[in-house]
Amino acid sequence: MSFLDERSELLEDAYAALSKNYKGIDVDLYDVCKKQRLSDPVIEGDFMKSLEVATHADTRHTHPVYAVFKYHDIRKVLTDAKTFTSGFIRYGLGKFFGGDALIILALDGQEHKEMRALMKPIFMPANVNHYRETITKIIREEFVEPMVPLKKANLMDFGLYFPIRIIYELVGFPESWREDIYEIAAMGLLILAGPKKDEEDLQAALERANEAADHMRSRLVELAKLKRAEGATGRDFMSQLIHAEYKGKKMNDHEVGTFAGTLLPAGGETTTRTFSCLMAIMLSNPELWERLRNDRSLVPKAINEATRYEGVATVKIRQASEDTEIRGVKIPKGALVQCLVASANRDEEVFENPDVFDMDRKQTANFTFGFGPHMCIGQFVAKMELEVAVNALLDLLPNLRLDPDYPKPEIKGAQLRGASEIRVLWD
Ligand code: HEM
Repeated sequence: MSFLDERSELLEDAYAALSKNYKGIDVDLYDVCKKQRLSDPVIEGDFMKSLEVATHADTRHTHPVYAVFKYHDIRKVLTDAKTFTSGFIRYGLGKFFGGDALIILALDGQEHKEMRALMKPIFMPANVNHYRETITKIIREEFVEPMVPLKKANLMDFGLYFPIRIIYELVGFPESWREDIYEIAAMGLLILAGPKKDEEDLQAALERANEAADHMRSRLVELAKLKRAEGATGRDFMSQLIHAEYKGKKMNDHEVGTFAGTLLPAGGETTTRTFSCLMAIMLSNPELWERLRNDRSLVPKAINEATRYEGVATVKIRQASEDTEIRGVKIPKGALVQCLVASANRDEEVFENPDVFDMDRKQTANFTFGFGPHMCIGQFVAKMELEVAVNALLDLLPNLRLDPDYPKPEIKGAQLRGASEIRVLWD
């Protein structure tokens, strides 16, 4: 089956709505961050609000807010999960996952450690490597090969659909549910689009997102039950989650369903946006694309540099669990701390010529996949998908280039970044 026959208006609208929600004002974010980094790298105030975007933080808006711009300060905050906690997310994004849903992002301390230990083996390269063949088959046969005769496309049609299709395969959706996957994915995006900057919009969005979350979770719990009843023998995430054990603890169907529900938006649109940034950069600089064509060992380096240069989520937020201090600025207990990872990834103290895209640069950890105990557990899956996608485009779409009849792709967004369209031609 080709994705061209399965396109979903609901999904495309939900993705556009999500991008709009986190777009904010049209500023040169990197320039604003640079000025801040060089003059006043820790400030009191809601920096994200000044860019007119809602955040995933506590929607009750009752806490003082601080913003941090430098690499080493942000690294400290993300590493010290005891002083800078994530539990507040359950009153922010968590609320949109169906009220009391415990999402892993919102767990702290021992509870987080246990949940993470339970799922770690599933997401480590030793297990993820088993999926390479499936991922390659899906991307090439269902996506890129059917595009070949078209000779032109908006590359983001492919970019929106393939990560969803893959996550659903890996989670273990049966073929008979295939028609539903893009609808369920749209629900996931509606949930992510929940947080709003205006109170009125927020209440309406909460209701919509909660309905979507209930619907999505009930389908996933149903799937977990089905798999358990059949012995859960597959290598898919859900079957492995059903058997996963840490210190004698296992997950029930509700927990397996809820966790799988958070994986869908966590692993889908983040990869879509990263793909958009990577391809916008590559095709706007054809000499870079040519280098990849001639030396495929550069593909992972290009992906890594794209995540530094144009990270898809510009901010990570934590809450101070006690009175503390960053770079001499006093942060009271309860304050929310906005870590501008987009700024840290271009900190001149750490990255030489930070505003230059340089895939040959020395590999230094950037924060696009986070850092510390909550660092993205799915990063090996994401990187593998992107690598397979780029290689498929290089192999199957000869002389892939930007279509001169359309505007050049632009990477935009104050909180969630990405290019909405990449119009291309090939021979
Ligand atoms: C390029 C694509 C991706 C990006 C940029 C990304 C980014 C992130 C970031 C920044 C975090 C940390 C959040 C925090 O510290 O608060 C995170 C956590 C997480 N990601 Fe990803 N992610 C991507 C793909 C994926 C995929 C494919 C999956 C699943 C297969 C996934 C599953 C998760 C999960 C479960 C967490 C929560 C980990 C925890 O709280 O311990 N992500 N991701």
